[in-house]
Amino acid sequence: MTDVAPIGVFDSGVGGISVLREIRTRLPAESLLYVADSGHVPYGEKTPEFIRERSRRITEFLLARGAKALVLACNTATVAAVADLRERYPRLPIVGMEPAVKPAARATRSGVVGVLATSGTLKSAKFAALLDRFATDVRVVTQPCPGLVELIEAGELQGEATRALLSRYVEPLLAEGCDTLILGCTHYPFLRPLLAQLLPPSVALVDTGEAVARRLEHLLDEHGLRRAEGPASARFFTSGDPAMLEALLPVLWGERSEVETFA
Ligand code: DGL
Repeated sequence: MTDVAPIGVFDSGVGGISVLREIRTRLPAESLLYVADSGHVPYGEKTPEFIRERSRRITEFLLARGAKALVLACNTATVAAVADLRERYPRLPIVGMEPAVKPAARATRSGVVGVLATSGTLKSAKFAALLDRFATDVRVVTQPCPGLVELIEAGELQGEATRALLSRYVEPLLAEGCDTLILGCTHYPFLRPLLAQLLPPSVALVDTGEAVARRLEHLLDEHGLRRAEGPASARFFTSGDPAMLEALLPVLWGERSEVETFA
């Protein structure tokens, strides 16, 4: 494995592009491969077995294209599949992600933290363990958000339907006194502009994209795999409609790119 090899990143769909952006900012010399499993989105309502199977297939695909490290840019896939992938590929640097409970518990002034995430993440033993560890002195109110990921996949980041659904999900959290909201799904950072309109300015939003990029940098250094200089590329694959992702990339990634098919 050489340092010029790409980093493989995947998500159930386009959400992980919010993490990919953080990786590009922190590690601008690295080439990136991104798989959106949009043909099977949302993962939030799927069984852990199904998500593990998809995660294995995507990982094999990324490794076959020379990936030197793997990022599960998906909270839901991390709870279902990261342990399995680490067992299968013990020498591969793997970064998973989890809702930002620790920084949120530090940041809250009201002592009440809200978590927006998928049902899969919120129901998991991994999430329960995270709360036991870092949320001992705060109250945590959780809110699953069915339907939101589908709207984001359709590029509906500002429309009326998204606004109505999102306000239905954040209102109960505000009523409980939350002053800090965790975006516990990688799709949701794309709703920050809409959230800024719906929430009072005193409410802080936290997500884990930047922390994941930092962790990846650290792991690459540890394995001697960090690339010093570019030219860096980014290749995109989807199990959904490539034309759809091509249309969304200028908004979500900030650049146009060709999108290839992943079965
Ligand atoms: N983006 C994913 C996450 O971080 C999951 C979205 C979904 O497919 O339900 O949890």
